[in-house]
Amino acid sequence: MHHHRCTRLHTEALACTGAGPSTEIVILSEAQRSRRTCILLLLLPLPLLLPLPLLLPLPLLLLLLLLLPLPLPLPLPLPLPLPLPLLLLLPYAFAFAFAFAFAFAFAFAFAFAFAVAVAFAVAFVVAFASEVGAGFSPDTLSRQQKGLQPLGLSSSNTPPAKLRPMPPIQTIAVLGAGTMGNGIAHVAARSGLHVLLYDIDQPALDRALATIHKNLVREVAKEKLTQQQADEAHSRIAPHTNISHLAAADLAIEAATERLEIKSALFRNLDHILRPEVILATNTSSISITKLAAQTRRPTQVIGMHFFNPVPVMQLVEIIRGLQTSQPTFDAVHALALQLGKTPVEVNDAAGFVSNRVLMPLINEAIYAVMEGVATPEAVDKVFQLGMAHPMGPLTLADFIGLDVCLDIMRVLEQGIGDPKYRPCPLLIRMVDAGWLGRKSGRGFYTYA
Ligand code: 3HC
Repeated sequence: MHHHRCTRLHTEALACTGAGPSTEIVILSEAQRSRRTCILLLLLPLPLLLPLPLLLPLPLLLLLLLLLPLPLPLPLPLPLPLPLPLLLLLPYAFAFAFAFAFAFAFAFAFAFAFAVAVAFAVAFVVAFASEVGAGFSPDTLSRQQKGLQPLGLSSSNTPPAKLRPMPPIQTIAVLGAGTMGNGIAHVAARSGLHVLLYDIDQPALDRALATIHKNLVREVAKEKLTQQQADEAHSRIAPHTNISHLAAADLAIEAATERLEIKSALFRNLDHILRPEVILATNTSSISITKLAAQTRRPTQVIGMHFFNPVPVMQLVEIIRGLQTSQPTFDAVHALALQLGKTPVEVNDAAGFVSNRVLMPLINEAIYAVMEGVATPEAVDKVFQLGMAHPMGPLTLADFIGLDVCLDIMRVLEQGIGDPKYRPCPLLIRMVDAGWLGRKSGRGFYTYA
């Protein structure tokens, strides 16, 4: 069932990207800017070449000066118009006058070229400073001091490139009605936002609405919400199977299957459907934000917003900047996470971010321990519950997350970081092949009713 849904979502996502390439280019990318900077730098010394043509007569002048002392072979006309010594000095006088005029002209031309080059350099520096300066705020400075800059290029130096103002966020689109999607829709509706919940599969949407209802009832029973608040939250969620119905969204959070090709196709599609100023966030648990951003014409407005299962309960949202994510995008998403009642933590864009880079190898190693007969799943879990105060042991957690999701993330880590220590455990692969996906399929390391 799960596989069936993924395949259909994948197919539609790819089909939906049929829209032709748009001619509207709103944002100057980092690559375009650095290419322009390189061209300007190469052009900078060109004015200095201007006086070079003046050097052409120089060899002739040198030849003339060399030949002057030679005796003239021509017969002198008599009587001479001037005394002979004066006559002999005359060519020297002409030569020196010519050399003086030449030197003067050359100096003048060189000074002119130098002035042009200086003017050109000043214009270039002013233009460059205004581009870079846009991203160099006191906030940037304080984050640099805190050592929170992304690795490599600083994305906060990315200017808010001709950005249209960020719209106030009232309606969000959530793509994917699985465990994470319905949890995100739940917390968004609970915090007063309107939610357009999209999935290709109507039964998946029905299941999501039923789960949200059940979890809202649980929150009313625990007196975290009143009945009226729960009813209002429920009424703010509108399910859709047609992706073009998301056009009214002020922000989108994609929570589809953890496969690059599926998410890429959805991002290309959203880029055509949503207004140009709208932020596209992804709940990916490990895929590169920078790669997804590159699928769109708005890479400065693409960001990671990684929620944790169960979304209504877990406090954390990892916020991940792509290489080109702008500061206004980060600020808007940071504020949104707070509005949803979550605690945002900023991390850099690297495979698995922080959470799954550390958690998944732990789960993978626990599976190796079971495969090698070191201990039973129950014993491994008890060690972590009682020895390390984990609320769930790693194998119960793996069943809770979904073994297919764990395997997908291990593969992203293995490919993204390229270290064999991230090799998925063969037992994990075999269990996924068997369709033992954990809680959702009724069987994983444990069995479920
Ligand atoms: N919606 C709303 N509330 C829920 C809920 C849901 N889906 N599920 C549980 N709750 C609430 C319960 O009502 C209860 O509330 P209370 O404290 O006010 O009584 C509270 O959560 C605890 O629930 P339970 O008493 O039913 O059960 P537990 O005490 O066993 O807690 C748990 C359940 C919260 C899931 C806890 O076991 C836990 O924290 N487990 C670890 C979960 C975890 O590690 N998640 C991260 C997974 S990694 C991930 O998501 C990233 C991805 O990229 C892979």
